[in-house]
Amino acid sequence: MQYSELSPTIRKILEALPDPVAHEAAAPMLPRECYTSPEFFEFERTVVFPRSWVCVGREEQIPKAGDFLAPKIGIEPLLVVRRGDGTIGAMSAICRHRGLVIATEAGSTGRAFRCPLHYWTFDLHGNFMGAPYLESREDHECLRENSKLPEVRLENWHGFLFVNLDPDAAPLAPSLAKVEPFWANYEDADLVAVPPTPGDTPLPWNWKVHAENFTDAYHPEFVHRGTHDFAPSVHDEGGVVFTPMSGTDNAIVRTVPLMQADGGMTDAGWGPEAAFPAIETLSPEQRKRLTFVLIPPSMTIIFAPGAVAYQLITPVGAEATLASNDRVTAGGWLLPRSTRERNDFADRAATVREGAKKIWLQDIPVNLGIQAGKKSRFTPDDAHYVPLETTLIQFNAWLLRAYRAAVPSP
Ligand code: FES
Ligand SMILES: [Fe+2]
Repeated sequence: MQYSELSPTIRKILEALPDPVAHEAAAPMLPRECYTSPEFFEFERTVVFPRSWVCVGREEQIPKAGDFLAPKIGIEPLLVVRRGDGTIGAMSAICRHRGLVIATEAGSTGRAFRCPLHYWTFDLHGNFMGAPYLESREDHECLRENSKLPEVRLENWHGFLFVNLDPDAAPLAPSLAKVEPFWANYEDADLVAVPPTPGDTPLPWNWKVHAENFTDAYHPEFVHRGTHDFAPSVHDEGGVVFTPMSGTDNAIVRTVPLMQADGGMTDAGWGPEAAFPAIETLSPEQRKRLTFVLIPPSMTIIFAPGAVAYQLITPVGAEATLASNDRVTAGGWLLPRSTRERNDFADRAATVREGAKKIWLQDIPVNLGIQAGKKSRFTPDDAHYVPLETTLIQFNAWLLRAYRAAVPSP
């Protein structure tokens, strides 16, 4: 999209934003409208998200040829499919006949996708296969050449499937390089995925409020009394550690200590008697810390001694966000197979869910309060951030960069 095609409202907001280059690693709070304006949300949904790497799920969710996911990126319905050769690809879900969405829900389709409206068929690579009542063999040949479902870029990052509608987007993996050290030793443990139950009730706040709540190291000591003290941001022997942010990073990372090795989620929040046993392949240091990773705009990861817990975020409105994880819905874990196959796994998963929900119930009122404040004329235009809010400042830098990259100014 060209800058000149933007509405005056969006242009006015963008023109008031600070220069992302001058704030490559740290940026001030964005104007309130970025969190409340339906028009600005449409800008994000139609211009920004389609240029971002968006996580749509895990490779384990589509184990067999023909298994597919049906995510929507911004307003674009896609098919993410396991092909006959075992590879995974992504393509538009829009039928090349008259544009029906071929599938809106994940499923399994055998060797071909069949559009429900007039039964045109496409193979697992999106190639046109056939259409009923075509006039001639030439028609068929012509369609075969011209009616492929457009391919969309996909990267498989540690089993997480990311898509990007922008053919010119920089590759994902280098932009997540700073997360790599945190994966060390986890994948030696024969991890299996327990995908999260998809959220179906929008949370009444902007997706950025949701992301900020996850990445904020300043609030746990106050909001999460009793549930988070075991993983403190402030501690005499060293608390939270941030990582530097560069202009090409797509991850915002912080780690905090655990008061005792091998702690994790209990029925009362973070604590010493973790419901998921510690992963034996991890180093002693890894068994004493939690690492929180925000990968905007679509996912978060927590590396814990017993599990990798992940969340998928789907923005659906200026003040409507779907979240899928153990706090809001259920599941969203990578676990050693030995944990997943325990006889008491269901009980342990329920315990984790109970503790995670307690943390979440503490977050709900503050998210509601922040969202409400974004509508007030008295909300400060520029927050005075403290050092514990380094990740929020980094997130602002990511947003500025994403907005500027989506629509270069004239
Ligand atoms: S719209 Fe898909 S077959 Fe007609
Ligand atoms: Fe919180």
